[in-house]
Amino acid sequence: MDRIDLRSDTVSWPTPAMREAMATARVGDDVYGEDPTVNELEALAAETLGKEAGLFVVSGTMANLVALLAHCGRGDEAIMGDRCHTFLYEVGSIAALGGIQPRTIPVQADGTFDLDDIRAAIRDSEDIHQPTTRLIALENAQCGVGGMPLTAAYTAEVGKLAEEFGLKLHIDGSRIFNAAAALNCPARELVEAADSVSFCLSKGLCAPVGAMVVGSREFISRARRMRKALGGGMRQAGVLAAAGLVAMREMIGRIHEDHATARQLAEGLARLPGIEIDLERVRINMVIMRLADSVPYTADEIAARLRERGILVGGRGERSFRLVTHYWITPAVVEQVIAAFEEILA
Ligand SMILES: Cc1ncc(COP(=O)(O)O)c(C=O)c1O
Repeated sequence: MDRIDLRSDTVSWPTPAMREAMATARVGDDVYGEDPTVNELEALAAETLGKEAGLFVVSGTMANLVALLAHCGRGDEAIMGDRCHTFLYEVGSIAALGGIQPRTIPVQADGTFDLDDIRAAIRDSEDIHQPTTRLIALENAQCGVGGMPLTAAYTAEVGKLAEEFGLKLHIDGSRIFNAAAALNCPARELVEAADSVSFCLSKGLCAPVGAMVVGSREFISRARRMRKALGGGMRQAGVLAAAGLVAMREMIGRIHEDHATARQLAEGLARLPGIEIDLERVRINMVIMRLADSVPYTADEIAARLRERGILVGGRGERSFRLVTHYWITPAVVEQVIAAFEEILA
């Protein structure tokens, strides 16, 4: 990359191996189901997460949208976190396009929901006045609270609750491989209880485009129709899927390196006077840092000075930032960033 970009892992550029794979990809018409590279990617995604089938879509937003459209009907309610991406940052698409009502419950500091909050949010199916609760959506890792991984045991409990009430369980696993690396367990164990899972090939896995949805064969065939309805049926998409295959084969296994650089960054910055970081909460590739009250600059002013040094950071508030590491943020780059902060705050 030609800059130091810590705003998000979405900014990561494809790797040389991805560009090479894209240039030589075998292709066909994927709307006809004839693109061999897409078919290979969908099969690999399903197998990796322990589900029957997979679907390649353009983005994490589309992955969540087609999943919820496939599970829910108009007027149905989906229980989700008040800090989750689907509720906050997906343009209200489940409501606008699917007539699905989000029922939000608090996301706790560790990324979980209180099981009693879930229970209390489930509607009385006998009451003619109430919408029908159809689904519970978890986000793993839960990024609205700084990237908290949810354990397999917790997810299994939510799964049990969903089953008790006949609800579907969807996991926005946009960063499921980060969660798996943080918990040191296979991603498939984290999603065993889920009916559907979305995950991104971009972000930490570095593909230029793409996300996957996995679930049962029957669910995926409905999701495929939804993708087509949204205009997301792609033709010679093998060119993109080729990068996705490299993402899955080469990048999942190294994602813990991004967690190591996040920790290096957090520890280095925490040593500087004027910066406050809760190191316990650095679990994946995200660092949330706060400027102490003694610092005479706002976050925007610091961000502007960093930008002058070729470093981009994501602002979260007047006195806080979110810094996200990825493949292109090496340990040497981290040292450069720490030095820049030190100079600016001196
Ligand atoms: C948790 C989570 N879910 C979904 C998405 C949506 O992904 P995309 O930007 O590819 O639509 C994001 C994007 O940052 C995300 O952080």
